[in-house]
Amino acid sequence: MNQPSTLDDPTAQVATYLQQHETKDLLRFITCGSVDDGKSTLIGRLLHDTKLLLDDQVAALEADSRRHGTQGDDIDFALLVDGLAAEREQGITIDVAYRFFGTDQRKFIVADCPGHEQYTRNMATGASTADLAIVLVDARKGLLTQTRRHSYIVSLLGIRHVVLAINKMDLVDYDQGTFDAIEAGYRELAGQLGIPHVTAIPLSALRGDNMLEPSAAMPWYDGPQLLGHLETVEVERAATGEAFRMPVQWVCRPNHEFRGFAGTVVAGVVEPGMDIAVLPSGRRSKVARVVTQDGDLARATAGQAVTLTLADEVDASRGDVIAAASSPPEVADQFAAHLLWMDDQPLLPGRPYWLKIGSRTVGAQVTEIKHKVDVNTQDQLAAKHLELNEVAYCNLYLDQPVAFEKYADNRQLGAFILIDRQTNATVAAGTLDFALRRAGNIHWQHVDVDKAARARIKHQTPRCVWFTGLSGSGKSTIANLVEKKLLAQGLHTYILDGDNVRHGLNKDLGFTDEDRVENIRRVAEVARLMVDAGLIVLVSFISPFRAERRMAREMFEIGEFVEVFVDTPLEVAEQRDVKGLYAKARAGQLQNFTGVDSDYEPPTDPELRLDTVGCSATDAAAAVIAKLADG
Ligand code: ADX
Repeated sequence: MNQPSTLDDPTAQVATYLQQHETKDLLRFITCGSVDDGKSTLIGRLLHDTKLLLDDQVAALEADSRRHGTQGDDIDFALLVDGLAAEREQGITIDVAYRFFGTDQRKFIVADCPGHEQYTRNMATGASTADLAIVLVDARKGLLTQTRRHSYIVSLLGIRHVVLAINKMDLVDYDQGTFDAIEAGYRELAGQLGIPHVTAIPLSALRGDNMLEPSAAMPWYDGPQLLGHLETVEVERAATGEAFRMPVQWVCRPNHEFRGFAGTVVAGVVEPGMDIAVLPSGRRSKVARVVTQDGDLARATAGQAVTLTLADEVDASRGDVIAAASSPPEVADQFAAHLLWMDDQPLLPGRPYWLKIGSRTVGAQVTEIKHKVDVNTQDQLAAKHLELNEVAYCNLYLDQPVAFEKYADNRQLGAFILIDRQTNATVAAGTLDFALRRAGNIHWQHVDVDKAARARIKHQTPRCVWFTGLSGSGKSTIANLVEKKLLAQGLHTYILDGDNVRHGLNKDLGFTDEDRVENIRRVAEVARLMVDAGLIVLVSFISPFRAERRMAREMFEIGEFVEVFVDTPLEVAEQRDVKGLYAKARAGQLQNFTGVDSDYEPPTDPELRLDTVGCSATDAAAAVIAKLADG
């Protein structure tokens, strides 16, 4: 039987490691702090001093330290963790690295999360599996905004144990007053955030003070040393729920006789004979076998990677969740959720993203930002968009229902990420709070007269012809000419023009990026209804962003959407300045004017590009008519 490869999937690696060490006590933790707080040095020293490094690795490290190191002839422990050459050159760690190490007492998995502001994302990724967080603070600097932000995320992700590692004590002369002040400040923060367990330790990771042995330089400190604390701290396991759940990672069909559903059990226990439901479809069956590479199992528990076969020919695919039939998870398509925005481009409500939850990926929009949180004060602030590293409470809409659980009940089925549809970058991490409405409560009402019937009596093919281009590019002029010609052919049309729609349906919207996104979303929905009514709709909006034009395109059937780029250079549109708006914008009397202080992203692959410098509006209109006749 084929097994899915786990080599390049860190979650699977962790699962495998867990399986191998099931019987041993295990602590998963993350480290967070700013770039210069000494995080890599701290982990490097833990790994080194627990003697888990192989000798040849140490030899390589010594050679490396002399080449790249920042510590003279001493070993630079940061090099041990900052694996990649590129990172070394920049002096920052850029990805989550999982390290496995152990002592006689305990095994550890540490997700090393970089501290640079823009890499908060990696921290959120590592934190969702952790039992404890080491929050590093530079004794000279005290609590920074970043410390507060990371602690906020730590609390959001349900981590209940924090080690406040006050590092570089050697650089403040091992001063107790400095330590006490930082500890007091942090305890107040932890109280606000509801982090119940905080242990503050004064350290010098570089010199080894209070790492493994008590520090002679700080006789005033009588608390635990870092390693000793990590070995003995009692953590209650993070919520995984009681009832069986397994997201399907992979449908395994090596031949006609065998069909199995592979994945990692994220909660509960599974056994042959058990009644299960497949979500979101709700179909039911029984588990026939629990298969692994080493043979069948009598039962499998959370953390184990298995392949299930079912008693019936039930359809399940990647992304579905197999769950105990007696208490299946909820299925919904609208949620209230906490969100951490991690992209340079802001989050704009209404813009389509991909959402990945468990092994399922669906289309999603943030429909509303309820509030964002000031991480320094915990204040809830109104927001229309989110910038890099901002955290907020939002409403989410998915274009398909998913099986989920509240993050507080099950971390795996309650955590998600958002992915940019153009760049495929992870742009947000979030946790689901609750479903706003159950999927299925709002149905599609069946109507007997459909689009085809409506189009037939009009003797036409319904279309959405979408004109995009700068203000003053000639969109409306050309659309107007096109409509007259179509009408003359006896066809049924309608023009949706930006200026006009903004007097009615969209009169509440201005010209900020988020308002333009909503402007286009609404007009695309209206155009879709009109196409459904059998009309040929001409949409004439600047529609400056690719993401929303793509969203509009995806609302239509193949061939129905015709994107026409009215390609007039800015200088030309500005020279024409029919409405006098460019002059106003240049004079600073009009903000966010497209082409002046607001972006226009030209289409990369339109159905038609009109060069309005080289041809007249009449010729341009003729080209559109020809294109429509063509397709
Ligand atoms: S869009 O960017 O949201 O698609 P839309 O096409 O609806 O814009 O509206 C554009 C029209 O609004 C322009 O043709 C112009 O007449 C007017 N307008 C007023 N202020 C602005 C502005 N700041 N930027 C662009 N157009 C503006």
